[in-house]
Amino acid sequence: MKVAFTSDNIAGASDVVFKAMMEAAQGDAMPYGNDDGTAQVTRMLSELFECDVDVFLVSTGTAANVLSISALTPPWGSVLCHSDSHLLNDESTAPEFYTSGARFVGVGGADAKMDPAQLKKLVSQKIGDVHSCQPSVISLSQVTEVGSVYSLDEIRAITDVAKIAGLPVHMDGARFANALLALGCTPAEMTWKAGVDMVSFGATKNGVMGAEAIVVFKQSLEDKGISSEKVAKELGYRRKRGGHLHSKMRLLSSQMIAYLSDDLWRVNATHANAMMALLQEGLKTVPGVKINTPAQANMLFCTLPLAMIDHLQAEGFGFYGGRWEEGVIRLVTSFRTSKEGVEAFIKSARQFATK
Ligand SMILES: Cc1ncc(COP(=O)(O)O)c(C=O)c1O
Repeated sequence: MKVAFTSDNIAGASDVVFKAMMEAAQGDAMPYGNDDGTAQVTRMLSELFECDVDVFLVSTGTAANVLSISALTPPWGSVLCHSDSHLLNDESTAPEFYTSGARFVGVGGADAKMDPAQLKKLVSQKIGDVHSCQPSVISLSQVTEVGSVYSLDEIRAITDVAKIAGLPVHMDGARFANALLALGCTPAEMTWKAGVDMVSFGATKNGVMGAEAIVVFKQSLEDKGISSEKVAKELGYRRKRGGHLHSKMRLLSSQMIAYLSDDLWRVNATHANAMMALLQEGLKTVPGVKINTPAQANMLFCTLPLAMIDHLQAEGFGFYGGRWEEGVIRLVTSFRTSKEGVEAFIKSARQFATK
């Protein structure tokens, strides 16, 4: 494949992350997260988020999402998330499996962002009715599955509904860094200061080999009358039960330490977002290309003439298509995407459009 915009997880890992893992693999360290590195990750994330947090490292984003939510909902609960969310569409039945069968309910809204009005209706329906599932958690994705980013006000509009209903809010931050840089705010501002109680802090898509952090904002939960101690305890047992308590946790922590050190996470996401901005600007000038949802971070959905898609694929460019409406493709840039690759893609599309 010449250049691939298939996903941000087709890129491997940043060299420093790999080096940190190699170093952590030397010598002995206590297993199952009882090593110094794992404690350091908690300290680093507390500092990053400017508050006291509990942290649980896992190796996939799906595990981070479903474990987080499972500690917040009873089996008879419902979890409200966007109809296009990864939770509803791309995590098989892991959400039901980990939550022992809680109901995941899709909420509508433009650009894969939940509409607060619809959410408000759903969280107040059939409360106390033993025949109905009971709203228990709200989960939003930041970046969303179509590449848009909730503004701080839009996050607050969701969390305000949650607050009135007394519900905890989880954020699927598989592309947390990309969203944060798009907004230009602090991690605290995009999460607990905006009413988010727990985040799946993604790293794998942005330069880490395979490590994600469940971050629990203890005070935020307490403020909603939810015992953060109970949630942390549950997460510990649930992570083990779910097969995500790595014995050599130090290999996951070493990745996260490298990721959080020297602003690697910012550097990588800045590059990925810049490459997407370049790609989007270029594609806007190509006849026949329609931008579906303007990319704010590192993912773009656009519609191309079918023959142009065939041409680009024949030229060796990689991307997903055929999963959505006819002609819709998804382009994703990463910390490894090259400027030359972006320019080659635009040039090839333009050559086809104008021949
Ligand atoms: C929005 C979102 N959430 C979560 C994930 C994590 O998924 P995985 O279990 O593949 O690491 C992804 C990966 O594609 C994603 O796009």
